[in-house]
Amino acid sequence: MSSRVAVAGCTGSIGTQTLDVLRAEPEHVELVALGASGRDPDALVAQAEAHRPKIVAVADATVAAALQARLPQCEVRGGPDALASLAEDADVVVNGVVGFAGLPVTLATLERGRRLALANKESLIAAGPVVQQARSTPGAELVPVDSEHCALHQCLRANDQRGRVARLVLTASGGPFRGYTAEELASVTVQDALAHPTWSMGPKITVDSSTLMNKGLEVIEANELFGEPAGAAGWGIGFDQIEVVVHPQSVVHSMAEFSDGATIAQLSLPDMRLPIGYALAYPDRITTPYGRIDWADLRRLDFEPPDLEAFGCLRLAYAAGRTGGTAPAWLNAANEVAVAAFLDGAITWTRIAEVIDATLQHHDGTPATGLDVVLEADRRARDLARRIITKDAINP
Ligand SMILES: NC(=O)c1ccc[n+]([C@@H]2O[C@H](COP(=O)([O-])OP(=O)(O)OC[C@H]3O[C@@H](n4cnc5c(N)ncnc54)[C@H](OP(=O)(O)O)[C@@H]3O)[C@@H](O)[C@H]2O)c1
Repeated sequence: MSSRVAVAGCTGSIGTQTLDVLRAEPEHVELVALGASGRDPDALVAQAEAHRPKIVAVADATVAAALQARLPQCEVRGGPDALASLAEDADVVVNGVVGFAGLPVTLATLERGRRLALANKESLIAAGPVVQQARSTPGAELVPVDSEHCALHQCLRANDQRGRVARLVLTASGGPFRGYTAEELASVTVQDALAHPTWSMGPKITVDSSTLMNKGLEVIEANELFGEPAGAAGWGIGFDQIEVVVHPQSVVHSMAEFSDGATIAQLSLPDMRLPIGYALAYPDRITTPYGRIDWADLRRLDFEPPDLEAFGCLRLAYAAGRTGGTAPAWLNAANEVAVAAFLDGAITWTRIAEVIDATLQHHDGTPATGLDVVLEADRRARDLARRIITKDAINP
């Protein structure tokens, strides 16, 4: 039986690659809905005409009426809850929205008892305890799309003894600035940061990869997905058992080491359509191969430790993860504000980590007891990070 799929964030990098997979696997998956911010109505109309979903949702209510006139064959929904409402109509929701804005889709999908194919790591990181609660809804299932966590999901399937995981090792490409000195990092440009050596992604995650914040967010994501306790969802590991290794070829997507010393890894060439297809078909597999390796061509796989001095964001993320509560929400919010300011040319690349650090100095230790608390933590941290940046502009 084919499952009904909704794609939130359909116009982005994850969204368009999801549509590629859906096009290749028509017998297993049926596209029922598309959703995006509404900033690019032409792109949405083109996708809706090509893929013929029943529903199109846009976060910006002001564009919904015009979109409905252009797409009479679809039901067009608009407004802040429009993308989250897609969980009503689908068996699987792919969350490819970027940033904290993806939180309503994550929560609605799990609370509705559907499968969440999660690319939007920010929602899980910022609202961990709230998302964990939603995961306990009967029928709810979270299958990670992030390539590292999808790899770990596959590695952990090789072992059913939940207390026997010794370490999870997340691989990082190292981004465009691997090996740069602090002096060289001081003068990198937006264009340099957007030139990722192995992955083609949206601008926010590409900058996150250049600072290693992406890896830091992924450490917290791994802890949320596979952390304590060793039970129905957890694998009995904590931050001390989650390590990062730089692997410039991006072929080993992550590894799990077990108590007897055995390490299991997942390998493929960098292609997000593989983890997207995995999250759609799990526990089955799609039949279209993506990222197949030509072993004669591959030749070598390199590994080296990350430079925590030059790439302070990774250190900040470990610290916020260990603090827990609303600290990851603060980290995420400050990072989103700092990255947007960097992309706008308002701050330098080096300043991203400094703005996040300065914001986190004010974190008040509030536990993440509910959605309202997380939303307030996000609002406060954004406000503070913006004020720190504005001070920069006044006193450069
Ligand atoms: N790209 C990758 O290879 C990759 C890999 C692993 C994980 N991820 C994660 O996947 C997520 C998406 O990344 P991406 O690279 O695909 O980003 P992207 O190319 O920038 O696309 C973002 C998508 O989110 C939509 N969006 C933005 N703001 C929104 C809002 N307020 N409400 C509703 N929709 C909104 C955009 O719609 P409009 O076009 O209408 O603005 C667009 O469809 C991120 O969390 C990222 O960390 C990405």
